[in-house]
Amino acid sequence: MNNLTQYQLKKIRDYIHRKTGIYIQDSKLDIFLSKKLERIMKKYRYIRFHDFFSEMIKGENTILFQELIDNVTVNETYFFREKEHFSILTDYILPNLDKNERIKILSAPCSTGEEVYSINISLIEKDSSTKKIRFHITGVDINSRAIKKAKSGVFGKNSMRTMPPALLKKYFQREGELYRINKKLTENVSFYNLNVFDRYRMKTLGTFDVIFSRNMLIYFSDKKRNEAVLTFYMMLKKGGYLILGHAERVDKNIKKFKRLNIKGCHIYIKN
Ligand SMILES: C[S@@+](CC[C@H](N)C(=O)[O-])C[C@H]1O[C@@H](n2cnc3c(N)ncnc32)[C@H](O)[C@@H]1O
Repeated sequence: MNNLTQYQLKKIRDYIHRKTGIYIQDSKLDIFLSKKLERIMKKYRYIRFHDFFSEMIKGENTILFQELIDNVTVNETYFFREKEHFSILTDYILPNLDKNERIKILSAPCSTGEEVYSINISLIEKDSSTKKIRFHITGVDINSRAIKKAKSGVFGKNSMRTMPPALLKKYFQREGELYRINKKLTENVSFYNLNVFDRYRMKTLGTFDVIFSRNMLIYFSDKKRNEAVLTFYMMLKKGGYLILGHAERVDKNIKKFKRLNIKGCHIYIKN
């Protein structure tokens, strides 16, 4: 197989961007994208770029597209990452929610699930004495391998780097080098392999009281970032909360949210 040209790399880059929001900078085309593409083409025995590309764009759900996405997404995550958000959820947001209803929380993207289980642990800990709140957490991610791992509930040491030891002991069983989450914590969560730009499938998940969308929008172009934020707006109940990563903001031209500053974090409320 010949080396891929800049034209071919940009064609793939633009396709990924259009479909997923992820924008790979020019400077990363040669070192990052071309290596991954060459490996995938070899694995599926494509010699000509044209054949590979035409097969891949036959549909967003082709094996080739999924393979590409599984390779270019950055799935770095760990338990209680940006930990202030979990105490904002339990101490500030929770008291404002209607506890007569089952509380619905979305983690989009959830990557390998650490965020979903951190939310679960935080709410269980908060409610341990009264056991009054009912809640469900839905995790979605475009990376199919990440979702598979999230469902397995088994994590390595790296995921535990900021996990309080008492919670590790309370909610996990050690299996050699790995940690398996208690079965109880897998009962009120669901995971889906989904693209946040697949508005139709996103809509089928229903509406949510709280949406966590942390550390995904940073990989998007401005246009796609705004598009994703508007999808989250659509999926929030009136008065629902949107929590972004520390480095992320809702564009100031989007006036649909009220912005709050809690514990130094920006939290958005659907007007
Ligand atoms: C760095 S992880 C963030 C995980 C977690 N929210 C956290 O903050 O630790 C970013 C995730 O965004 C996912 N992602 C990127 N584009 C996406 C899209 N269009 N739809 C759904 N997930 C996407 C990637 O697969 C990756 O798992």
